[in-house]
Amino acid sequence: MSVKERIEKLRNELNKHNHAYYVENSPTVSDYDYDMMMKELEKLEQEYPEYDDELSPSHRVGSDITKGFSQVAHVHPMLSLGNTYSIGEVDEWVKKCNDLLENPVGMNSIPIVGEMKFDGTSISLIYENGRLIRAVTRGDGEKGDDVTDNIKTIRSIPLTLHGKGYPERFEIRGEIVLPWKAFDKLNQERAFNEEPLFANPRNAAAGTLKLQASSEVSRRGLDAYFYYLISENLPCDNHYDNMLKAREWGFKVSDAMTLLHSIDEIDSFINHWDEQRKHLPVATDGLVFKVNNLRQQLNLGYTSKSPRWAIAYKFAAERALTRLNFVSFEVGRMGIITPVANLEPVLLSGTIVKRASLHNEDIVKSLDIHEHDMLYVEKGGEIIPKITGVDKNAREKNATPIKFVTHCPDCGTPLIRIPGEASWQCPNKYGCRPQIIGRIEHFVSRHMMDIEGVGEENSALLFEAGLVKNSADLYDLKTSDLIPLDRVGPRTAQRIVDGVEASKNVPFDRVVYALSIPFVGETVARKLVKAVRDIDTLMNMSRDELVRIEDIGPRIADAIIEYFALPTNRELIERLRKAGVQMSLPEEDTTYSDILAGKTIVISGVFAKHSREEYKEMIEKNGGKNSGSISKKTTFVLAGENMGPAKLEKANSLGVPIIDETEFLRMIEK
Ligand code: IVH
Repeated sequence: MSVKERIEKLRNELNKHNHAYYVENSPTVSDYDYDMMMKELEKLEQEYPEYDDELSPSHRVGSDITKGFSQVAHVHPMLSLGNTYSIGEVDEWVKKCNDLLENPVGMNSIPIVGEMKFDGTSISLIYENGRLIRAVTRGDGEKGDDVTDNIKTIRSIPLTLHGKGYPERFEIRGEIVLPWKAFDKLNQERAFNEEPLFANPRNAAAGTLKLQASSEVSRRGLDAYFYYLISENLPCDNHYDNMLKAREWGFKVSDAMTLLHSIDEIDSFINHWDEQRKHLPVATDGLVFKVNNLRQQLNLGYTSKSPRWAIAYKFAAERALTRLNFVSFEVGRMGIITPVANLEPVLLSGTIVKRASLHNEDIVKSLDIHEHDMLYVEKGGEIIPKITGVDKNAREKNATPIKFVTHCPDCGTPLIRIPGEASWQCPNKYGCRPQIIGRIEHFVSRHMMDIEGVGEENSALLFEAGLVKNSADLYDLKTSDLIPLDRVGPRTAQRIVDGVEASKNVPFDRVVYALSIPFVGETVARKLVKAVRDIDTLMNMSRDELVRIEDIGPRIADAIIEYFALPTNRELIERLRKAGVQMSLPEEDTTYSDILAGKTIVISGVFAKHSREEYKEMIEKNGGKNSGSISKKTTFVLAGENMGPAKLEKANSLGVPIIDETEFLRMIEK
């Protein structure tokens, strides 16, 4: 086989496995074998650049090159859909289509396709000769942003098509979505770093698609569903069959798509999904009904804004009206002040809502909230309740507008407004109680120093008792200091002291993350540490040197410089160092052990101490082999949380041992 043929074979195989994994959710190859094929492809492409292809599966990772988006005119304008919240109006629309097409309205209707209305951001993709040429956002409907590079990072979008029979040139439209899981994870990260949260997956998807760094787009885990094919040479004369073809070519087309033949069937489709949509992995805000036959679509035509052959039925967001008792102002670890509406408890989508974040001053102002107002609270698919409006008719006479505090509600320091943002901040970093306790909580938490026994409550307790005012104080704690405290018995005291001791082995990157330097989250900490290798280098770097590190921008660089400019922080570092906390990376470890030689290991689940990738690397470095599926040959399964039930059952039935990360780390430490 020639090199060129080998490259093509690898690309084909990898594309097939990608499709099986990302579109069909049923992997056909182990992670290990996939990685090996990818490595071989990357190596060959590097050695033979003449065969490189920008649509090769090896280019899915995305680059960090900063680029603006250029605007592109749509070949066919991207229209919106007429919509309704009422089943009755959907039925009316079906009757009208039948009337206009002179189909006698009896039991049966002309064929209608029912689909989910995905709640993301729409995209138009152009393919030529089976290759993705361009991806453009909706924009103003006439022209949109060219986001091809970002779209290429979405694993479920085929860059080159499968099978045959696709038109030489066609456009396919769909919705870019951020699945609930990825959305929750992203917001958890943002909450942790005290960055503003995304209100819903739609905003998160739209925001992500417009990011400049496609590596970050790639990391966030966007997905895409397709629902509309346009071409002069479509393979079939109806929408449903065309979408089935699109599925064969590699596009993700929802399994919910159903051909419906009567008003009754349409109504049951609505009733079914009104409830069942709650179990889908992505957000939906309604259903879309489309006349199936393309000739009938053509006959019905368009109004100036939308096609007559389609209608959207929107799910009603659940909404309640309740009294505002008061607005509290809460101080976070970074000193950011968050206004919170404290409400008369009200039942909404099955849970009692008592509090809802008002996010920042601009939102309080734009809602124009007054004392004791009656507020509308909504919970769509979102888990977080949201204040969407005020019933002004119910406002008490002489009620005054809610005023944002000017001083820290905890320590009384005048607040400062963060330039370019809607947030107010208490600048008294080292004297403000919730900020100090927040930093201790952050330091001990599971993703940081993982100090057992000191959680949220005990951080406050230790602070109030005057024992711990900063993270270094933790390392001076003795059981005799702790036992006299309320709620701390000898056992808890010992657990805390042992936990503190064990934290001295936590790797340096997590120590940097634990320090609470603004904007330095998990990923940034890892990048910094990889570049500097020890704390002294980091402490003494200039702004210019910092921004030269991958993914470190001026905002992060300034925050780092400001942090280390403070003598309090330098003292803290010295005390932590003296206590034995890791302040550098171990010497580049070239000594490979063979402790796992001959062992085949399957990784499953989510881990707390290292990433999956790191575990894979550890296995390889110690002579073991990674495998994606459990078989008789598997030596053991390295399992984190949420190991899949199928894997668990298989391991048990084959008698394959399951070990957790602590045990694994102990094993390779030897
Ligand atoms: S069809 C000409 N089908 O909803 C008709 N749109 O309100 C083109 N959407 O801009 C649209 N799911 O972003 C269609 N199954 C679906 C959809 C869908 C979500 C979005 C799309 C469109 C908006 C219209």
